[in-house]
Amino acid sequence: MSLVKEKFLKLGAEYAPGQEVRQNTNEVKLRGEKIPGTPVDFSHGDVNAFEPIPGSLDNFIEGVHIGGEQAYTEYRGSKMIRENVAEKLSNFTGTTINADQNFIITPGTQGALFLAMGSTISRGDKVAIVVPDYFANRKLVEFFEGEVVPIQMEYFHTNTCAGLDLNQLEDAFKAGVKLFLFSNPNNPTGVIYSQEEITA
Ligand SMILES: Cc1ncc(COP(=O)(O)O)c(C=O)c1O
Repeated sequence: MSLVKEKFLKLGAEYAPGQEVRQNTNEVKLRGEKIPGTPVDFSHGDVNAFEPIPGSLDNFIEGVHIGGEQAYTEYRGSKMIRENVAEKLSNFTGTTINADQNFIITPGTQGALFLAMGSTISRGDKVAIVVPDYFANRKLVEFFEGEVVPIQMEYFHTNTCAGLDLNQLEDAFKAGVKLFLFSNPNNPTGVIYSQEEITA
């Protein structure tokens, strides 16, 4: 079997994101708390909870009248967008993000993860992944032939933090882990990491 075929077989494409949780309920434990308010389904692409941002139609029409480019944009994404978002992100994160050097626009987060992981994972590299976490993280590590090192998150019995096993994470780094992947809020549980966990 060709290497490419092997890789794609390993990816497993039976379920769309979100459906994995629906169809494999043993894998993810649900706390089942009653939460007030209208439920929002955060499954991939299913979020339909908000009205469009006020004025967005006017902005769109204005943009059509201004006209635009029909050609490819710069590889890193339009300079105007990069500068605008880099400034906002710099303010938000408190670090300086250079629009020309530290920034690239991608068609979605998954595209960004693919590029980031493709440029950091070599065959055999150890990559720590929170369990459970975004379904594609594991698949991407396997695609780039890294070795998955699971880090348990005991979200079930805690209310003050996400429940990440920080000792296990530290041991993993001591044992040669090169990269650590986590989503915040965590997908699929919706758990948010505490300040202490993020700092640690
Ligand atoms: C943690 C996480 N990463 C990446 C993605 C994929 O994002 P996108 O649709 O922007 O590719 C999702 C989508 O739900 C997600 O929850």
